[in-house]
Amino acid sequence: MRLGVVVAFEAEIGRIGDQGEIKTVCGVRYAEVPLGKNTAVIALSGIGKVNAGACVQVLVSVLKCEAILNIGLAGNACDLPLGGAVLADRVVYHDLFPEDFISQDAPGTSEFIPDSRMREAARQILEDMGIEYRNGTVASGDQFISDNTLKASIIQKTGCSCVEMEGAAIAHISLKNGIPFCLVKIISDNADDDAGEQFDETVLISSYLETSVPFIRRFAENFSF
Ligand code: ADE
Repeated sequence: MRLGVVVAFEAEIGRIGDQGEIKTVCGVRYAEVPLGKNTAVIALSGIGKVNAGACVQVLVSVLKCEAILNIGLAGNACDLPLGGAVLADRVVYHDLFPEDFISQDAPGTSEFIPDSRMREAARQILEDMGIEYRNGTVASGDQFISDNTLKASIIQKTGCSCVEMEGAAIAHISLKNGIPFCLVKIISDNADDDAGEQFDETVLISSYLETSVPFIRRFAENFSF
């Protein structure tokens, strides 16, 4: 199958396997990597919901992907340590009001539910890799959360386990196309008053890649419906 993988960093594209050249279509940079019986189409989302939604639409319409996996960074909204993971069992916007506006169009909901088979495959890999994880809600908005009060109000409103900036758009546009998806979010900071300092890009990216690259490789090599 053709598995679309939405990633955050260009370095992920280069390290997953034997990719050909990095190409660009509709402003989305991607590479195709044969892994097992699948082809992983690894695409860079860019930051924020619009970039992420456009990336998924390109993966589906132009690059003919049949399922979407997203792995990325998130701010903690539960008891995970940095480097732990949230395996999404529900995905929502935290910056969309009123919520029922969104459910007037396909897929007819403002809560997006990941595919159970993809989740099970992801869960098994997280366990095998020894990564501490929680099942939970991912809440997305076009804002880096670094404020205790704001974080508390998002948790109260959504019941989320982490906050980030792309997941709901990835989920939304996957389901709008009738395509299954799965989100795995690695905790990079606590989304609190100190989050800006915790988010040290260089340290973070190198340790993040140690999780994301083998995770993507294993998922793409083995997954089938
Ligand atoms: N991605 C990683 N950390 C985040 C935060 N604190 N807020 C939003 N997106 C994030």
